[in-house]
Order: sequence, then C-alpha cells, then structure tokens
Amino acid sequence: MKVLAILYNGFKSAVQEPRLLGTVENKLGLDKWLASRGHELIVSSDKEGPNSDFQKHIADAEVLITTPFHPGYLTREVMEKAKNLKICVTAGVGSDHIDLNAAVDHKIQVLEVTGSNVVSVAEHVVMDILALVRNFVPAHEMIERGDWQVSDIARNAYDLEGKVVGTIGAGRIGYRVLQRLVPFDCKELLYYDYTQLPAEREQAVKARRVEDIEQFVSECDVVTVNAPLHEGTRGLINEKLLSKFKPGAWLVNTARGAICDQDAVVAALKSGQLRGYAGDVWNVQPAPKDHPWRTMKNPLGGGNGMTPHYSGTTLDAQARYAAGTKKILENYFDGKEQNPADVIVGIGAWATKAYGQR
Ligand code: NAI
Repeated sequence: MKVLAILYNGFKSAVQEPRLLGTVENKLGLDKWLASRGHELIVSSDKEGPNSDFQKHIADAEVLITTPFHPGYLTREVMEKAKNLKICVTAGVGSDHIDLNAAVDHKIQVLEVTGSNVVSVAEHVVMDILALVRNFVPAHEMIERGDWQVSDIARNAYDLEGKVVGTIGAGRIGYRVLQRLVPFDCKELLYYDYTQLPAEREQAVKARRVEDIEQFVSECDVVTVNAPLHEGTRGLINEKLLSKFKPGAWLVNTARGAICDQDAVVAALKSGQLRGYAGDVWNVQPAPKDHPWRTMKNPLGGGNGMTPHYSGTTLDAQARYAAGTKKILENYFDGKEQNPADVIVGIGAWATKAYGQR
C-alpha cells in the first residue's frame, strides 16, 4: 500500500533533534514500521502546484498524512485525481486543509489525532494574551536595542486581572484556555459556541455563554479564537465584526488564519481599534516574506505577537501526534474500529459536529 506524507523540512534541527518527529527527515517515526508491514512510504515537503511531489504521488496513494503546520491542500480538484485514496490522517488537530465536503462525496475518510496538542495550544494562547496585555514584545525589543525607557512601554501595559476574556469556540482548546485563566481573576470569562457547555463545566470555570457574536465581542477586552475553520468561520472576524469590538481590545487567534480577514485586522490594529493581535496561524502557510501580519503595528508601534505556526508542534505534542497517527494507521490496516473522537469524516458521512452546524 502506498502511504504519502506531506511534512515540513527540519533540516539541521531535525538531524540534531530526533524528537522533531513531524519533519521530512524523521518521518513521524513511521518508516521502519511501515516497511516491516510491507508498505511504501513517500515523504516530501513539496506540496504546491501540479508538478509537486504531493500532486504526483496523490494520484496512486491510498493513505495521505499531512500536518496542519505545512498542509498539503487536498482540494476537490486534487481529490478527483486521487483514484486510490481511502484515508487522510491529520498528524495534529484541524483538517481544514482538506475539502471535507468533497471527502464525504468521494467516500474518503478523514481522521485527526484529536486532543494530541490541545494543551500545547491552550498554553500558547495564555502566553499570547499575557504578551499582548502586558506589552511584552516591544519591551523585549527595546532591551535588545540597548534602550531603556520604561514610560514608552508602561503607557500601553495592563494587568489581565479585572479584564473580560472571551473564547470563540469552547471545545477542547477553548475550554482549556478558560481553565488556565481562572487563577488570573479576570472580571468575567465568556464563550461563544453553538454548543452549550454542560452546566457543571460552565460552573467549574465560571464562564457565561453569549449567544450573539456582536454582543459577545462588544463585551470582551480580550477575544481568543478556538474554533475550526469551516464555511461558518471563514472570514468571521471581518471589518464589520471588528467595528463591534471594544475599542482597544486584544485579539488572539491560534485556530486558523483565514478565520480573520487579513486586511481588516491590519486596518483595525493600525487605527487602534485593536490594541494587539497575536497568533501563530496564517491565511497562507508558509506566510510570504511580505505578509502584512509579520510587521503590522498599533499606533504606538507595538501590539504584534505573531509567530510561525508552532503552538501545537512542541516536542511533547509531536510525540503524541506521531503515536496517534501510528495508531490510526494500525487500526486502518487491521480493519479495527477507530476511536470515534478521531473521526472527522467517516465513509461518505460527517462524523463530528465541530466543523459547523449541518
Ligand atoms: P474541538 O472540536 O474540541 O472544539 C471546537 C469547538 O468550536 C466546538 O465546541 C465547536 O462547537 C466550536 N465551533 C465550531 N464552529 C463554531 C462557530 N462558528 N462559532 C463558535 N464556535 C464554533 O477542537 P479543538 O481541539 O478545540 O481545536 C480547535 C481548532 O484549533 C482546530 O480545529 C484547529 O483549527 C486549531 N488548532 C490549532 C493548532 C495550532 O498549532 N495553532 C493546533 C491544534 C488545533
């Protein structure tokens, strides 16, 4: 059986650090095991355009493995060429790089390693919130430059205590963010999700659900996005919604770049409507060198907490999603039932409610 894996290059780092499992070099630790079972493994980072390794090998692969960190975009058009494809495995969480409706139509299963990196991302969200609210990045850059002017930093630095923080999406990551914020004594924790949390889970973090998104953002000092990318969330945070935010709010998005409108975010930060924007996800990955989110700033020259997409690919997370990928493949080869929580699209049918209300 042919297994195609699209992973990111690790180069020298992957040679020096074998725990960087999700790289082309270290092949999710699957190569010897797959060979011992008589399967062929093709691994590449070359994923763009009709002559890429991705499009060449997808034509006869039965299994596709990709990571959201360097996604092979499986559009309906590419899927039509993939005559043998039966199963796509996301080594991580978030399968929006696959046209999931097309996967239903083509009876291609889509699974992800649910939960594998949700703590990794939740920790990153808390870090990004603190970095923005406390104005950390400009403070550190000042020190590296050799300057020392406390007032220039302090004029835009606040405490998280007493602020209202809300999450769009209160699933595995969103809920863990709320849990981690409890000791900060925020004024209130809010969530916006079409799925209501069970009363005891709401109570455990003292979170209040707001059902109208404009009302929700107008109440938040900090908004964090923790919902998957799908038809209902693509471009959700656009010029109109940003105008309903509290003036000077902070926005953290580690879910997917395309949930926020690129130019509307730049404009909101520039005008000060947003005081800061942070996250690790981009509408195109890798982000081009001149992507405006790399250098956008608020009127005081700060408010940018962007990083490359790495919150869910810590070494701890890589060990978990590599093991989870192997387990999914093992179940598939042996005809065993998959863990239901891992199944996004089953054979010809949606298996989750997290990717939009249908
Ligand atoms: P989950 O499936 O546990 O939770 C998602 C929640 O979002 C669900 O409660 C769902 O009802 C809610 N939701 C869906 N559409 C919504 C909408 N239109 N408005 C409000 N809520 C909505 O998923 P989990 O594990 O929390 O992951 C969420 C997303 O985070 C992933 O789909 C992925 O895109 C992203 N992610 C990012 C990573 C990174 O490295 N930056 C790593 C892992 C996940």
